Amino acid sequence: MRIAITGAAGFIGSHLSERLLAAGHDVLCLDVLDRFYPAPIKLANLQEALRHPRFVLATADVCDPEALDDSFAQFRPEAVIHLAATAGVRPSIERPMTYVRSNVEATQRVLSASSQHGVSRVILAGSSSVYGKDQPPPFDEQSASGEPQSPYAATKRAMELLGAAHSSVHGLTVTVCRFFTVYGPRQRPDLAISRFVRALLADRPITVFGDGSFARDFTYVEDTVAGIEAALRAPRGYHVYNLGAGSPTSVNDLVAAIEQVMGKRAEIRREPQQRGDVPLTFASVAKAKRELGWQARVGLQEGLARFVQWARTAPEAYFRAGEPWSLLVQPPQP
Ligand SMILES: NC(=O)c1ccc[n+]([C@@H]2O[C@H](COP(=O)([O-])OP(=O)(O)OC[C@H]3O[C@@H](n4cnc5c(N)ncnc54)[C@H](O)[C@@H]3O)[C@@H](O)[C@H]2O)c1
Repeated sequence: MRIAITGAAGFIGSHLSERLLAAGHDVLCLDVLDRFYPAPIKLANLQEALRHPRFVLATADVCDPEALDDSFAQFRPEAVIHLAATAGVRPSIERPMTYVRSNVEATQRVLSASSQHGVSRVILAGSSSVYGKDQPPPFDEQSASGEPQSPYAATKRAMELLGAAHSSVHGLTVTVCRFFTVYGPRQRPDLAISRFVRALLADRPITVFGDGSFARDFTYVEDTVAGIEAALRAPRGYHVYNLGAGSPTSVNDLVAAIEQVMGKRAEIRREPQQRGDVPLTFASVAKAKRELGWQARVGLQEGLARFVQWARTAPEAYFRAGEPWSLLVQPPQP
């Protein structure tokens, strides 16, 4: 199949590209190499995919309709997997308009271009953040998601609703895969596991927000991309699936697990809980199991061991990545 992946130079997209290439698909990567974290990291993510003869890289902004039109006209995708977004809860509070553009406007552009170019299926990268903070766990796909706790979560919910509307009006098959804190080699450098492991490797203290009781349903990237691949066979129409491990771990337990894997004690600095963070994410995976035949397979200890092994030899740029706040060089936004 000919598959266009937006945001394919990022963490999840680069793994997905390799998986789909290995399965025999042709892959078009559409990525603007944004400044959320440094472009050299993204190019390093693509090192393996770029060697593949069935992989094409187009550095394009998916908010640019002409760029989308050109690349879809040339590549003629049968399926589009839309991962491009500005991710991250906390920076979305500082720069909401960036998120509205990258996550809402971009989604509508991708949906419209897909219909115009006869694409038969679009998969959207959803997020556990849409469940807000008051859901009874585990969260199933029917749970109300009307009270997002951050602009990021609100834009991800808006993305889903645009997908539902587009599917209804234009008959396009739209599948939302809600990811739950994905980790593994190449993890975005702003996320906790990457921060903790890099700090420990450099013998620096780690920063934990709040008392460490907040818990996340950490999901290994190989499982996440297996779920996205399974979603290429999801039923027609509009459907939503949780792709989470279904086994949440508190930040305190995560730190202990990393200490065990690395054989090192962490010096912990505590800072106040951050605005926008929710206390728990916890996927119900019954629907994905039933309809996609998917479930996570890699446990946290095993996944952390693989991540640490990768981090020990990660590209230099990965270690120089600071805050994902290069966004902040833009002028202040309302
Ligand atoms: N990583 C997680 O734990 C997680 C959890 C839930 C949802 N998600 C979602 O999964 C997707 C991928 O996340 P990731 O962690 O790989 O992030 P990432 O930042 O590593 O990848 C996103 C990619 O999108 C690109 N991009 C951004 N705006 C673009 C635009 N307008 N045009 C073209 N490319 C653009 C960026 O350059 C980047 O390479 C995102 O939609 C994110 O919201 C991720």
